[in-house]
Amino acid sequence: MGVRRDSFGGIFLVGLIFGFAEISNGGITSSYVRNDDLSLDMPLDSDVFRVPPGYNAPQQVHITQGDHEGKGVIVSWVTPDEPGSKTVLYWAENSELKNVAEGFILKYKYFNYTSGYIHHCTIKDLEFDTKYYYEVGVGNTTRQFWFITPPRPGPDVPYTFGLIGDLGQTHDSNRTVTHYELNPTKGQTLLFVGDLSYADDYPFHDNSRWDTWGRFIERSAAYQPWIWTAGNHEIDFVPEIGESKPFKPYTHRYHVPYRASGSTSPMWYSIKRASAYIIVLSSYSAYGKYTPQYKWLEKELPKVNRTETPWLIVLMHCPMYNSYAHHYMEGETMRVMYEPWFVEFKVDVVFAGHVHAYERSERISNIAYNIVNGLCTPIRDQSAPIYITIGDGGNLEGLVTSMTEPQPSYSAFREPSFGHGILDIKNRTHAYFGWHRNQDGYAVEADSVWLHNRYWNPHEGFIRGCVMKRSDSMSLEGACKVHSEYLRSLLQIIQNLV
Ligand SMILES: *[C@@H]1O[C@H](CO)[C@@H](O)[C@H](O)[C@H]1NC(C)=O
Ligand SMILES: *[C@@H]1O[C@H](CO)[C@@H](O)[C@H](O)[C@H]1NC(C)=O
Ligand SMILES: *[C@@H]1O[C@H](CO)[C@@H](O)[C@H](O)[C@H]1NC(C)=O
Ligand SMILES: *[C@@H]1O[C@H](CO)[C@@H](O)[C@H](O)[C@H]1NC(C)=O
Ligand SMILES: *[C@@H]1O[C@H](CO)[C@@H](O)[C@H](O)[C@H]1NC(C)=O
Ligand SMILES: [Fe+2]
Repeated sequence: MGVRRDSFGGIFLVGLIFGFAEISNGGITSSYVRNDDLSLDMPLDSDVFRVPPGYNAPQQVHITQGDHEGKGVIVSWVTPDEPGSKTVLYWAENSELKNVAEGFILKYKYFNYTSGYIHHCTIKDLEFDTKYYYEVGVGNTTRQFWFITPPRPGPDVPYTFGLIGDLGQTHDSNRTVTHYELNPTKGQTLLFVGDLSYADDYPFHDNSRWDTWGRFIERSAAYQPWIWTAGNHEIDFVPEIGESKPFKPYTHRYHVPYRASGSTSPMWYSIKRASAYIIVLSSYSAYGKYTPQYKWLEKELPKVNRTETPWLIVLMHCPMYNSYAHHYMEGETMRVMYEPWFVEFKVDVVFAGHVHAYERSERISNIAYNIVNGLCTPIRDQSAPIYITIGDGGNLEGLVTSMTEPQPSYSAFREPSFGHGILDIKNRTHAYFGWHRNQDGYAVEADSVWLHNRYWNPHEGFIRGCVMKRSDSMSLEGACKVHSEYLRSLLQIIQNLV
């Protein structure tokens, strides 16, 4: 067993584990005690929901990637009073030349709600790695924002992705976004793993809560792309009130570049961004054999060129591995369909939400089973992804605290606290993932792991992050610094030995 217990300056470090060792028995269930009061949504007159001043001022401004390579951006916004201009003006920093892109306008009704004028405009053929300013609302109240395009896809391009899921619009949601914004490892693009506004928790799915959510996230989503995954709270399927078209509010408000990856539906698609290839799947669209999603994924995975984009990342809403009691086994049917492909094509990491908590798996697979052989226990598998559940954004449904016991051996770390993750890709072989909980200082990582790329670095083990107990004489932040330095030096020693 590679488990080592040590004590260092009043901090307890637990669990230094190498990839070659067999799975640790039970992993870590963090003993962190949190405030798990049910959180209410922020009231309608909150600062984060404020309507921008001025006639027909664009609101709910958000951007996402607009093509397959990262040279495109989809700019979306809502005008409340009249359609207004469809134009986006944009210009590179240090450039006088203003370019023009024209978008289009959508509107929808949901029960007795009527949306504002929803604008979507795709800007194409931007330069890589460049800061652009953009302006919307031309003709009436204009508003200006900016974004930075990613570097050209390439194997050793460093890039940082934030991870948030199941966000909603409570005070905890606001804390999660604030912690993400103030994390010293600045996320450059946010991977959102589904369940956006939770408007459907209101009577008749009160769609004005989609508007408040759009205004709430604007402070981040207008400046960096949020990459969208659909969750169950996006389905909005209520035939009893005449709403029988699934995903109506979501698909009107949040556009994705699905055609650029040969997909026939906005529910599943892929993008390249810097050194990452990101595949977004839909837990709530058909995924069985012969379905459009299945056929697309079957063709998609062999296309990924790991020399160009070494990091293969999959996003979905419902986790395939989840040891909490809530939503237990819900991801099982999709796991049966797609896990063999994830192993075959050496997916690096699969991020999911849905379960309102955090969990990280060992590198395991469970693909040997057939109906008679009884081989149904996950085993360590160096070709398998790590599964990370990050549905802890902070929505009004609260945290899930009840877990299956004992902790299954495939589960490396689990803790029900609100927070966010950051995936920090260093080069083709190394990426660092950190999980941050909202109660800690901005720089603190409550769990972390070095990811070794499955294509370029498949035989190296990985060191698992540790849980610590806060000593009375040291802040958690201070403790964490010491702890990571200590780990780094240990790693050095071990590398010199082998
Ligand atoms: C949300 O967070 C921001 C940034 O920390 C803060 O300025 C704002 O007052 C918060 N709003 C609410 C309603 O908590
Ligand atoms: C929609 O209908 C509900 C239930 O009758 C009502 O409470 C709500 O005020 C209505 N909203 C609008 C915008 O008419
Ligand atoms: C708003 O802009 C449109 C053109 O996009 C123009 O026709 C209209 O007169 C403007 N309204 C006001 C009040 O400025
Ligand atoms: C994969 O990408 C590399 C780097 O961009 C390129 O040189 C190579 O031709 C690509 N391979 C295939 C099969 O397209
Ligand atoms: C890749 O990044 C890791 C972690 O920062 C570093 O240790 C390693 O030397 C880098 N590899 C190369 C080839 O630069
Ligand atoms: Fe969910």
